[in-house]
Amino acid sequence: MTKSILIIILIAGMIAVVSVLSVSCKRTSWGKDLSWVQQQIPSGFPEPFYRYAADNPLSKEGVELGRKLFYEGRLSVDGNFPCASCHEQRAAFGLFEHDRSHGYNNSHTLRNGPPLFNLAWQQFYHWDGEFTTLTDAIAQPINGHIEMADDFTNIIAKLQTDVNYRREFKQIFNTQFIQPKHILQALSQFLGTFVSANAKYDKVKRGEAGFTAEEQQGYTLFLAKCNTCHTEPLFTDGSFRNIGLPVDNLLNDYGRLRITRSPNDSLKFKVPSLRNVEVSSNYMHDGRFLSMPQALNHYRMNVQPSTTLDPLLTNGIPMTDTELLSIVAFLRTLTDMEFINNPALARP
Ligand code: HEC
Ligand code: HEC
Repeated sequence: MTKSILIIILIAGMIAVVSVLSVSCKRTSWGKDLSWVQQQIPSGFPEPFYRYAADNPLSKEGVELGRKLFYEGRLSVDGNFPCASCHEQRAAFGLFEHDRSHGYNNSHTLRNGPPLFNLAWQQFYHWDGEFTTLTDAIAQPINGHIEMADDFTNIIAKLQTDVNYRREFKQIFNTQFIQPKHILQALSQFLGTFVSANAKYDKVKRGEAGFTAEEQQGYTLFLAKCNTCHTEPLFTDGSFRNIGLPVDNLLNDYGRLRITRSPNDSLKFKVPSLRNVEVSSNYMHDGRFLSMPQALNHYRMNVQPSTTLDPLLTNGIPMTDTELLSIVAFLRTLTDMEFINNPALARP
């Protein structure tokens, strides 16, 4: 009798300790005297999916630490593959003029490194939507064998030896010991400042500039032929679609099928934003096209029929050469030079 009561008390006590521990693990205790920064939400943009204020409030110090980490070789096993090696500012933080990214030990990633901006408006990350939070998407390359090939234990051991990092993590996260979540939170804060909304297109919308006749013609065609999927102002509707690209027999990439295992998702990929598309070549999930005209040619010449092909593309997208070039002219108005040249986002 007394023995079983004792056991019950013991178990209850253990549950209490475990729940206290798990609560204290989840919460980040922020340091003192941080300069808080507002998350930028451009006028005309919808409500973002992710609000930083909720669990990772932006601070000037957190963003700066994230910036150092984004350019930090020590996040990869041999020191050569920081985030910025595949996400270059001149390519709107995509991979500059490559099909697929190079990682540790001459390996290739399966897919093209996408440009990074307006991430808080995304519900899914990666071409197949594998991740639903930004921090999970950031953790992946750090642990990935192909990308950076290191793990958090090693990285933290390297960072802990650096007195500046120790001081900064302590100041921001109020901790002596760097934890994986602190690295992810700081990187997420830096990426949270990657807001691109100041292209010529935006200036036209705000009445500060005007389209040329060709750009205007391209815009009108874009609204008729492309905007259902590449919906302004983000230039994506965030959905997964099959646009009838022929399957590459070496890569055998069936997109969203890998995640949901549903045959209905075969060959569907996330609709990419077309902001900054001019500077973020190559194009498509595997970077198969080098230029914008090549990518657009696919829609009028080479759409492959299949059961999951998007109904909008059953007959491809007919356009004349002149129409195609005017759409390209319009797409060039989505280049945000201020973002691409923003010194606050460059290597510190
Ligand atoms: C070796 C090249 C490489 C490195 C290094 C790399 N990435 Fe990536 N990144 C990629 C590729 C390729 C994808 C697309 C993966 C996919 O869709 O399957 C990607 C996707 C992403 C995404 C999702 C973007 C979206 O729109 O879905 C984010 C965010 C991201 N990377 C951030 C980072 C951060 C932060 C680091 C550093 C910790 C980093 N990456 C390091 C190649 C790389
Ligand atoms: C049915 C939806 C849909 C329509 C309509 C559509 N697209 Fe796309 N677009 C996509 C998807 C999905 C991808 C990514 C496909 C992939 O990589 O497998 C894409 C990729 C692209 C890319 C490559 C971008 C990059 O970063 O790799 C360009 C450029 C592009 N589309 C332009 C256009 C233009 C211009 C039109 C109109 C003429 C158009 N699209 C119509 C869904 C669509």
